[in-house]
Amino acid sequence: MITLRKITLDNRRDIFNLSVTEEQRRFVASNLSSVASSYVLATNGGHPYPFAIYAHEDPVGFVLITYQITSYDLPSFSEDGYCILRLMIDHRYQNQGYGREAMHQIMEFIRTFPAGPARFCWLTYKQDNVNAKKLYESFGFRDNGEVIHDEYVAVIEL
Ligand SMILES: CC(C)(COP(=O)(O)OP(=O)(O)OC[C@H]1O[C@@H](n2cnc3c(N)ncnc32)[C@H](O)[C@@H]1OP(=O)(O)O)[C@@H](O)C(=O)NCCC(=O)NCCS
Repeated sequence: MITLRKITLDNRRDIFNLSVTEEQRRFVASNLSSVASSYVLATNGGHPYPFAIYAHEDPVGFVLITYQITSYDLPSFSEDGYCILRLMIDHRYQNQGYGREAMHQIMEFIRTFPAGPARFCWLTYKQDNVNAKKLYESFGFRDNGEVIHDEYVAVIEL
């Protein structure tokens, strides 16, 4: 069973130590960097939701969800949306259905609108990240034609 849990003083090192394969490193930032970004967002008016992904009692991955982030080079609708900014399952735990189950939990969490109302959920992925693309498409995310920092933007209406 997959659960999303808070990053705590107890589990933070376990989460920082999770990693993807060498070839996947260009697809996602390190969890240490993502938690640092969460701090910066939180202290600058943002709404970051960093979560550890647990399979039973084992930490297996990480996700960072944000709300209403704005910047000149983000999609126009990002002000009206939640964003799945980072998602990773540690290389030792991939291909066991954990990513899919985590996405179910993530979408369920977003649909509680924890930081406020929104019309969209969006994310970006690199064109050759076939696994991520297939996963997101199966949840209804569709490319909207925008490319940001060499990544395709995919969106779903909530
Ligand atoms: C993308 C990622 C989160 C998927 O997690 P996972 O636990 O391995 O995925 P699952 O086992 O739950 O598989 C979910 C779906 O992903 C796709 N997928 C996963 N591994 C795949 C593979 N080796 N080949 C093809 N599709 C694959 C499939 O659509 C699969 O669904 P299916 O099993 O019903 O066909 C994981 O591979 C990962 O962390 N990758 C590196 C970081 C990354 O790319 N993050 C996303 C940034 S946009």
